Amino acid sequence: MWDYSEKVIDHYRNPRNVGKIDDADAVGLAGSLSCGDQLKIYLKIKDNVVIDAKFQTFGCGSAVASSSMLTEMIIGKTLDEVRKITNKDIVDALGGLPPEKMHCSVMGYEALEDALKSYHADGYVSLDEINSNKSADKVICKCFDVTENQIWDAIKTNGLKTVEEVTNYTKAGGACGHCKEAIKDIIDTYYQKVAKEENAPLSAAQKILKIGKIIDTQIAAELQKDGGDITLQDIDGNKVYVKLRGKCSGCKNSMMTLKGFVENTLRNAVDKDIEVIEV
Ligand code: FES
Repeated sequence: MWDYSEKVIDHYRNPRNVGKIDDADAVGLAGSLSCGDQLKIYLKIKDNVVIDAKFQTFGCGSAVASSSMLTEMIIGKTLDEVRKITNKDIVDALGGLPPEKMHCSVMGYEALEDALKSYHADGYVSLDEINSNKSADKVICKCFDVTENQIWDAIKTNGLKTVEEVTNYTKAGGACGHCKEAIKDIIDTYYQKVAKEENAPLSAAQKILKIGKIIDTQIAAELQKDGGDITLQDIDGNKVYVKLRGKCSGCKNSMMTLKGFVENTLRNAVDKDIEVIEV
């Protein structure tokens, strides 16, 4: 038996915004009846704000709760805000979902994405048109009609690492299992890409941003624990000019100087050739 949060139970028992909007400005569809669950979402949009949202779903209690919560989350939001919502936000708003039910939140996200794709300020594109766009995306799991992009998005948004996790979030791989090898390939390709990006040399602008961020979020926080502080003055290539005050617990333990601590942290995180200069 799965453990459901109080919010999931509440939204399942008292779903909000159930139904159809006859003059909807955008309609999105996710899942399919042949795969066991389906969600259709209707949006009414005015001046780039979602002024109403309704849903119709055929699915389990988690699908109802996810859809209900999603409509509450988007009503009153601008399209820019709505575009930033992911399945993870739906899960967080519900206070969590069992791993085996994560695909319900993904279905909500996909229906919303579908609706947003269909929306134009001057009306909306028909579902037939949306479905014909979908055909450009390769179907990986034929049993559940899950595409490569859907799997990629689920991995990226939720940090999925195993085929089993992908199945929990998208259903792909949950029937005959013939697609499992392909899912594993997508996971491997995704993490190879991430590793490549992490190891790619930083541009000058990226380096400056990264140094600033590390100083603000890691180094300053450490120094402030002991009443110290650091202010970034300038960056010129690998030379980082800073104003330093106080000591840090890390420096005391290792007999390292304050400047040495800052330099070491930046060298490990950004570039081994960084030189810290006190001004
Ligand atoms: S093709 Fe994916 S489970 Fe059958």
